[in-house]
Amino acid sequence: MIIKGKELSVSIKDALKVRVSVLNDQYGRTPNLVVILVGDDPGSVSYVTGKAKAATEVGIRNTTIRREATITESELLELVDELNNDDDVDGILVQLPLPKHIDENKVIAAISPEKDVDAFHPMNVAKLWLKQPCILPCTPKGIIKLLHFAGVDIAGKEAVVIGRSNIVGQPVAKLLLDANATVTVAHSKTKNLAEVARRADILVVAVGRERFVTADMIKPGAVVIDVGVNRDSRNGKLCGDVDFEEAQNVAAAITPVPGGVGPMTITCLMENTVEVFVNRMNKK
Ligand code: GUN
Repeated sequence: MIIKGKELSVSIKDALKVRVSVLNDQYGRTPNLVVILVGDDPGSVSYVTGKAKAATEVGIRNTTIRREATITESELLELVDELNNDDDVDGILVQLPLPKHIDENKVIAAISPEKDVDAFHPMNVAKLWLKQPCILPCTPKGIIKLLHFAGVDIAGKEAVVIGRSNIVGQPVAKLLLDANATVTVAHSKTKNLAEVARRADILVVAVGRERFVTADMIKPGAVVIDVGVNRDSRNGKLCGDVDFEEAQNVAAAITPVPGGVGPMTITCLMENTVEVFVNRMNKK
């Protein structure tokens, strides 16, 4: 089975569109998302364009503020502060990565936790790890939704996450743990990675290398979630971290790239924007 993230994301966006319209009747305004894009990395430009398009589709007001890669850290912090203090702005997203001369951690920490639609702020990360109610990071949240959509009962399963980034690997491991999976986080220093991966009933791969996971690393009947977004060196097309052609013959279910995790990340960002909006409205 191919897990069609695109299909699920369309149905969630359809429902969100109705919700946004109802919220507009209730509060007299729609959620407002501001995305900051520094520089012109083609990958980041493409992600940000996708986010803006999805926001417009569901009726979320959105602005992309573009700044040159030469912006100073203090100028960027000042911009974030302005948006924090703008009562008409509900969600703030700073597209990563930032240029090397800017401290990403400083910028993330400067975003008001109430407006942090990525859930990257230390306060929101802490809440996730302490299992307190909070905004969930978009890609991990999307992965759990994909597993539910595919009818996977997570409780009691062996889950292996390859990759330990702050954005995907670590938070998805925590969400799988909260869903009662037995979780292993593998990474570049893991010994016998193929053997570890083959234990997985649920294999999540977030490495950023094409064809990193081959069929021999997958247990027959496993569910494979491919978070990778790479360019295939053979043909220049988008591809994931998993050798899809081989893997689909071994796995019971697998997400494609494109059309798997990617659209769910964007859709969860829309959900988060609505969630922060509602939280802000209810605080007034
Ligand atoms: N860069 C890659 N993924 C993400 C994401 O989910 N959010 C932000 N802000 N930047 C990213």
